[in-house]
Amino acid sequence: MANERVKLGLAALLGLAAFAGAGALAEKGPPPPSRPSWRVPAGNVHRGEAIAQTCLTCHGPDAPAARDLHPRPPKLYRQRASYIFFVLREYQQGVRHNDLMRGMAETLSEQDMRDVAAYFSQNFPDKPPRARTDLPGYRITSRECTWCHGETGIGELEGTPVLTGQDPEYLAHALAAYRSGERTDPTMRAEAKRIAPADDAALATYFSAHEWLERGQ
Ligand code: HEC
Ligand code: HEC
Repeated sequence: MANERVKLGLAALLGLAAFAGAGALAEKGPPPPSRPSWRVPAGNVHRGEAIAQTCLTCHGPDAPAARDLHPRPPKLYRQRASYIFFVLREYQQGVRHNDLMRGMAETLSEQDMRDVAAYFSQNFPDKPPRARTDLPGYRITSRECTWCHGETGIGELEGTPVLTGQDPEYLAHALAAYRSGERTDPTMRAEAKRIAPADDAALATYFSAHEWLERGQ
């Protein structure tokens, strides 16, 4: 449920605040280093691999079923397992709206969701990439986004997506969708409204310029 995710996120945030000292989150200075999280909902990678074959017709490298989709469906390999799991449930419950993904999610049990999440999230590297501080988006993200998404888009909070290496069109489209209300997540709606639409492209370019998420294993 969305509530469960909020609770997980809040617990993680409280931990973060206790660690950093609440004020430090909004202060200037070097952003905290990104650190990937190893916590994943228990899932069976082998079962997940079988389920993923359908998903790869849109999310994979050749993606025959995605040829006419704009933006391209997002990369899923090395996405955080908890995010994949929560989002699949939200598509199934109609909390996040997308006709294609609702149709897909309706065919899955909760165990299927855990398994496919475990499959895509395996090979999560243990070190974030080095931040491209030369790109214009870096300054905006270190001011607005780093405390949830990490310096390069990985972050530490369960249920929060990895943005690092995602397609720039998809990221920019997502920001516009939060702003317009097409995507309803309250946290990101507020965040998207805090930044100027003119900055979306620089932010999307920044996150996508690092290697992490992939279309293939
Ligand atoms: C027919 C094409 C298609 C198929 C097949 C498909 N997807 Fe998707 N998927 C999409 C599209 C399009 C989006 C973007 C929707 C949106 O903007 O909310 C998406 C989004 C997602 C997201 C959200 C990712 C993010 O970064 O927010 C997840 C997770 C996901 N799909 C998982 C799956 C899984 C698991 C399967 C297989 C069980 C699957 N998809 C099969 C088209 C597809
Ligand atoms: C308070 C924590 C927080 C902050 C700050 C934050 N985000 Fe997010 N972000 C989230 C969460 C949680 C989600 C998942 C929302 C959902 O399920 O739709 C998300 C989702 C996203 C997505 C969608 C990714 C996908 O795969 O669909 C994008 C793009 C994004 N954030 C960009 C940003 C940018 C750019 C900033 C800074 C301007 C930012 N975020 C600041 C928590 C945050």
